[in-house]
Amino acid sequence: MSRLSAREVHVRADLDELSEALAAEVVRVIGGAISTRGDCALALSGGGTPQRLHSLLATAHAGDIAWPRLHVFFGDERYVPHDSPQSNCRMARETLLDQVPIPADNVHPIPTDGGDPDEDARSYEAAVREHRVGDVPRLDLILLGMGPDGHTASLFPGSGTLAETERLVAPSLAPVEPRRRITMTYPIINNAAAAFFLVAGEDKAPMVARALGPNTSVEEVPAAGVYPTGRLAWWLDEAAAGML
Ligand code: 6PG
Repeated sequence: MSRLSAREVHVRADLDELSEALAAEVVRVIGGAISTRGDCALALSGGGTPQRLHSLLATAHAGDIAWPRLHVFFGDERYVPHDSPQSNCRMARETLLDQVPIPADNVHPIPTDGGDPDEDARSYEAAVREHRVGDVPRLDLILLGMGPDGHTASLFPGSGTLAETERLVAPSLAPVEPRRRITMTYPIINNAAAAFFLVAGEDKAPMVARALGPNTSVEEVPAAGVYPTGRLAWWLDEAAAGML
């Protein structure tokens, strides 16, 4: 069985239509988690692709989410101040979190002000564990992007962090600035109840095909290492799906 058949793949014409379809599904997943367990732990990704999704959650769907029962974490962060234009936390606040009535304590940014990514990663892991008990806390939904090099979160090709099996959050190095990053690792990503990739653009098509193809090296294509015990869905525009 090819890995493609073992996963959900949802394709829409363009990023707008894709973001609309994914926003509706994210609302459903959040609502399901809240109904089942009383709250929802969601991890956001960074970069540019999710910004339209965030905007839809903050406007068209603002009334569909029980914001006081949603806890927002981050799949990764650049090791820059939270007011830096490069900060994933700043992007999430500007496009979503500052627009909705989510309690301040429900937003859990990755700390980047301790001066040591390793220590800040450890304190973030403690924060995740404080919110969700269990050997490996099970987040309800992790949203992920993918770079044209096949990285996801801040798990980059050839990175030693790919081999991490104990730590849930760890420092990593990106090949581009800002190089210092903090990222969730496969143990927590692959224990999620659901992991959704949101990928758009022709430049991503080769790596989407590799990530969904058989016998792909995780070392070369870290996105291929995301295979959660729960639900895995790839949400693609036609351009990113063009080589499937
Ligand atoms: C980050 C992200 C990263 C992102 C991909 C895709 O910190 O940049 O978490 O994993 O999802 O690089 O980024 P774009 O959506 O900008 O293409």
